[in-house]
Amino acid sequence: MSTYQPEDTRKVTTHRLFEMKSRGEKISMLTAYDYSMAKIVDEAGMDIILVGDSASNVMAGNITTLPITLDQMIYHGKSVMKAVRRALVVVDLPFGSYQGNSKEALCSAIRVMKETHADCIKLEGGAEVRESIVRILSAGIPIMGHLGLMPQSINKFGTYNVRAKEEAEAEKLIQDAHLLEELGCFALVLEKIPAELAARVASELSIPVIGIGAGGGVDGQVLVMHDMLGITEGFSPRFLRRYANLSADIAQALKHYIADVKSMDFPNKDEQY
Ligand code: KIV
Repeated sequence: MSTYQPEDTRKVTTHRLFEMKSRGEKISMLTAYDYSMAKIVDEAGMDIILVGDSASNVMAGNITTLPITLDQMIYHGKSVMKAVRRALVVVDLPFGSYQGNSKEALCSAIRVMKETHADCIKLEGGAEVRESIVRILSAGIPIMGHLGLMPQSINKFGTYNVRAKEEAEAEKLIQDAHLLEELGCFALVLEKIPAELAARVASELSIPVIGIGAGGGVDGQVLVMHDMLGITEGFSPRFLRRYANLSADIAQALKHYIADVKSMDFPNKDEQY
């Protein structure tokens, strides 16, 4: 198994991500939602940490990302920011905090930046959230876009299947990707779309394109931490590579502890005062 040690320990900025794309260096991105895990992720050398609204699923146990609130995202963002020294930290604007009303979108983004001290925000959508994007950017807040499968629109899509397989949807996605770049987004996440389409978008845009389930032809990869560490169970889409089996490892450790307590093996004489 290959491991990684970053040579450049300076803080990652949006400009440095752009340089990475220019020289063909792939960008690593992973979610984190709390202080302890964010510290491990940052020290491992991750380029971007996403405080994703997937916190709604993996931290709060909701079925979708829709219920998580702005206050809850800010709580997670603050916890992560206390740990991170090097990675660029992106906080997701949650469902309902930016769609339909650009003034509210700006207030939501300002709250995230002021209260968490994160580097930037991410939001889902293209032309339909154009006004919100323009307004947030005009306040000097960097935005990472998100197209393809957009979990906040699950009730419109109806499934978590691969998006943009049909020509009309692929065409709209390409147009939206160009629009996001033109408006001034600094990067774009493409979720669960055909690899060929994602590679085309990445080659046409000058901003970095980060994929999840979008193949290897993009500028970087993002995964949800709980999925890649094997903490979530019963979720194994084709794009997911598991790098550990932590739910089994943790369960084994817990059972060992329970057995030690019951048998009075723990604590022993060296483990008391
Ligand atoms: O919330 C999240 O974790 C995300 C990733 C799936 C990109 O948006």
